[in-house]
Amino acid sequence: MRYAAVTGWGKCLPPAVLTNADLATLLPTDDEWIVSRTGIRERRISHVRLEELAYVAASRALAAAGLQPLDIDLIVFGTCSFDDQVPNQASGLQLRLGAMRAAAMDVNTACTSFLYALSTATAMIRSGVVQRALVVGGEVISPLMDWTNRNVAILFGDGCAAVVLEASDVEQGVLAEKLGCDAAARGTLVIQGMGSRYADCQRRLGVTDWVFEGQEIFKRAVLGMSEASAAVLAAQGVSAAELDLVVPHQANLRIIEAVAKRVGLAAERVFTNVHRYGNMSAGTVPVALVEALEEGRVPAHGLLLLPAFGAGLTWCAHLLRWGARVTPLGVSDVQLPPCTQTALQLVQSLAARRAAAVASPV
Ligand code: UT7
Repeated sequence: MRYAAVTGWGKCLPPAVLTNADLATLLPTDDEWIVSRTGIRERRISHVRLEELAYVAASRALAAAGLQPLDIDLIVFGTCSFDDQVPNQASGLQLRLGAMRAAAMDVNTACTSFLYALSTATAMIRSGVVQRALVVGGEVISPLMDWTNRNVAILFGDGCAAVVLEASDVEQGVLAEKLGCDAAARGTLVIQGMGSRYADCQRRLGVTDWVFEGQEIFKRAVLGMSEASAAVLAAQGVSAAELDLVVPHQANLRIIEAVAKRVGLAAERVFTNVHRYGNMSAGTVPVALVEALEEGRVPAHGLLLLPAFGAGLTWCAHLLRWGARVTPLGVSDVQLPPCTQTALQLVQSLAARRAAAVASPV
């Protein structure tokens, strides 16, 4: 039997921190409301494009695996905030890395994109099509945000992380997964202004309006993540008590707590970093996984559960067996270019650009 072991991991968070207090200077909101309803205290705003974040995260993941870019056969990039729709995000990363032997594809299932990408790459390794894959999850969502809408502007942030998968005969990597989509509710989260249907309208592409039914998404997210988690545990005959760590999608602390209660997960076994980064969509689960490793929360041979949901409404859960090594083999010296602006300055200029575009439609 072939498995797809996780042998490398790396993250890249842009340095500019946008606090709840910063947001309160832009929108009618306050720290107390945001923290009590979501658990979020701050998030990152990127001064560079997604390709740059991914290049740093992927370089770190390759170094952690002790591999070179030419060792990689496949790049699967999970995102919904591509720098360009054509050509795809994965090909830009391939070129940047010099991973010229790799096939390169994107996966877009919104916040679950990293985990759907993990399933895709795992299946291609297990079927023998490729030996080594780089799986990336990341977003630069801040340029696509409606900075006048407090319902959504407080929730999201930018960030990226990557893992390396390698074929193995040892039982590890993804052991079971359950993927699904509650498409009847796909209208609960729509970013208007991002697709070809808007290209012939009197509006600028990229100037977005968010349709967002927070409470409906909340309820369906808890249901989808809980049911997917129960399904993968049952498929492997594993009880919640046998899990070493749960690394859930981090959209809202209350969603994570509700899922933990329904699935019977002990709070101390559930990793959270939503207070630091908010919801980074496809970047959330891989960044949390990397930080769990950095904080020594993943034991050798540990059993992990990764539940998530996203627009669509897609949902999933993955049961993952970690390998023997929980420390990186090497470290990359690749860094982001320096950021000369504060997060608030970056957001102010994005908001001003949006306001000017709205005031003068094409
Ligand atoms: O990956 C998919 C991403 N989607 C999600 O993660 C969404 C999941 N949903 C949620 O996380 C929650 O539903 C929210 C955090 C979005 C909202 O929390 P809530 O407890 O459902 O609040 P609510 O929508 O019921 O709003 C309560 C009140 C409203 O005022 P009234 O009508 O009671 O007077 C809102 O207008 O809070 C108001 N409100 C705010 N107040 C201050 C809404 N947003 C804000 C805000 N600051 N940012």
